[in-house]
Amino acid sequence: TKIYAYAIRKDEEPYVHEWKEAHKDVDVDFTDQLLTPETAELAKGADGVVTYQQLDYKADTIEALDKLGIHNWSIRNVGIDNIDLKKAKELGFKITNVPVYSPDAIAEHAAIQAARVLRQDKVMDEKVAKHDLRWAPTIGREVRDQTVGVVGTGHIGQVFMRIMEGFGAKVIAYDIFKNPELEKKGYYVDDLDELYAKSDVISLHVPDTPENVHMINDDSIKKMKDGVVIVNVSRGPLVDTDAIVRGLDSGKVFGFVMDTYENEVGIFNSDFSGKDFPDKRLADLIARPNVLVTPHTAFYTTHAVRNMVIKAFDNNLKLIKGEKADTPVDLDK
Ligand code: COI
Repeated sequence: TKIYAYAIRKDEEPYVHEWKEAHKDVDVDFTDQLLTPETAELAKGADGVVTYQQLDYKADTIEALDKLGIHNWSIRNVGIDNIDLKKAKELGFKITNVPVYSPDAIAEHAAIQAARVLRQDKVMDEKVAKHDLRWAPTIGREVRDQTVGVVGTGHIGQVFMRIMEGFGAKVIAYDIFKNPELEKKGYYVDDLDELYAKSDVISLHVPDTPENVHMINDDSIKKMKDGVVIVNVSRGPLVDTDAIVRGLDSGKVFGFVMDTYENEVGIFNSDFSGKDFPDKRLADLIARPNVLVTPHTAFYTTHAVRNMVIKAFDNNLKLIKGEKADTPVDLDK
């Protein structure tokens, strides 16, 4: 039995070796290259592949694996929005993801960044770096004085709610799938408009489905409170970035936390230091004192990365053996 893994970073290697040690009967090989139609060939002879989301996996990539007779595919992350699932289903693939590797990693990042925006930490950091040590006018807002609106109450949304409540915030939520426990406790508002109207901080924890694309736009921002803080550590396409820029310019939006970006593919997790920067709008956002940009690193913790690797390999071996995987992706949806 052979598993071939793509895009294994240095920080993942110890966990690949850990899994290998525990599964001496499985031949495990890996590369630091991403899976593309060209690199698919590297997996020749393998029974399954392990990858993670960075590029789009279009028909050409899927067909390249199909040609090699590889149909067991385990991704190490949650999101499956980059995979042509229709093509994968048509060619008889079995796919798994890791929906819960560490909701805390992402939720904690969202909470920290939201609090930093409220305290104007980036503004103060920049002043201090210039040796301007005056307080005013960089006054903060306390988290406990905010109503925090959480859109999406899955694993990550729920941890975020707990953390924000720990700070003392009033938390309200919206989801098309209501969690019975949260419903009993009265967290849910009736619709998104109500959440927009009542929240000082709005954090998105929903997947990138066609219905959710640009859910944050000029119209929705109009419905929000003046001075709202918007947090997107979920998926770039949820937010119409131009609308956010307009909101920031008018002062309607007090701050924006952005760990994902609609044009991030090929930009995030690349080094442009000393080179031409390929995206003017992103450069402008990075330069703003009330915008915190991180390059899709909310997930990037030791706890999360270990689980991503171990769980993906576990899943892949189960697929290869024809067993029921722990977290199969439903290709019929
Ligand atoms: C996910 O798990 O879906 C992420 O966004 C993390 C990233 C490595 C793709």
